[in-house]
Amino acid sequence: MQTLSDFLRNSDTSTELQQLLITLADCGVEISALVRGGALAGVLGATESENVQGETQKKLDVIANDLIKDKLAAQPLVKALASEEEDYVVAGHADGQFLVSFDPLDGSSNIDINSLVGTIFSVLPAQDGVDGEAAFMQPGRNQVAACYMLYGPATVLALTTGNGTLMFSLDPSDNQYKLVDAKVTVPEQTAEFAINMSNQRFWQPAMQQYIHDLLLGKEGPRAKNFNMRWIAAMVGDVHRVLSRGGIFTYPQDTKNPAKPFKLRLMYEANPMALLVEQAGGIASTGYETILDIEPTEIHQRVAVILGSKQEVEHCLSYHK
Ligand code: F6P
Ligand code: MN
Repeated sequence: MQTLSDFLRNSDTSTELQQLLITLADCGVEISALVRGGALAGVLGATESENVQGETQKKLDVIANDLIKDKLAAQPLVKALASEEEDYVVAGHADGQFLVSFDPLDGSSNIDINSLVGTIFSVLPAQDGVDGEAAFMQPGRNQVAACYMLYGPATVLALTTGNGTLMFSLDPSDNQYKLVDAKVTVPEQTAEFAINMSNQRFWQPAMQQYIHDLLLGKEGPRAKNFNMRWIAAMVGDVHRVLSRGGIFTYPQDTKNPAKPFKLRLMYEANPMALLVEQAGGIASTGYETILDIEPTEIHQRVAVILGSKQEVEHCLSYHK
């Protein structure tokens, strides 16, 4: 079976990007081991501090963040990094070619119940003469790579460098990622949706109507029954979409008027949008293609509707 390094060496990926991707993949190997250690690794439970989003940080969030920061700091190719757990952009090497944004531990509320969590990375090209947060203000379309590691029963790595989406599985016998799917394809149709239904009364009318019609099943306008799943870790829900199709959405809501969107553009929506698009799916806010959004802030949040092409298009028709 082809390892990640073999695959990259035989691809047209630049040697610099190969080197960076191997570093990101290594972070995943180490975080995977910590997650597997669970309570034994002494990493469970909450710390005292809150992150920039006002959420209580889990110990493992902090550990994963520090681990990635240290590995990227040692990587001369990285000009700057941005993390969900860092208020501000962290400067790297002035000559670096890449800007890396990441969610060190996505779905961290799942940690204490021994459920799915993962790490998400987005890689943008550095720009001459533009530093700090301003350098990151590029549409997701500019990403030179996006990947996630999902720490589940198996640790998997989904990767795109803009030439399709690939899936690797971490082989526990030698800690090498092995290629398991060279061309991930999201089926165009689906009968499975993912949304946090507890927010229903806070959604906009378009999403209310769309989900209402799905729930009517065979007797409704869709004339088929739909199944629902919610992992509460975007990385887990997107992995299911890449594996067997589906529609995943975290739409706008009015639950907290000061925070109409939940998911973060730079290190959640953009990398997942590229992985889904490269696998034949669609990713939108309902009104705009995610990858075309011109960012204004490193921690900005967006509505996300992604997955199977025909189903997402159907959902978007309610937003017209
Ligand atoms: O990172 C934010 C996040 O944890 C996503 O991974 C996940 O999809 C979502 O929030 C879960 O939200 P909720 O707690 O509302 O189910
Ligand atoms: Mn997250």
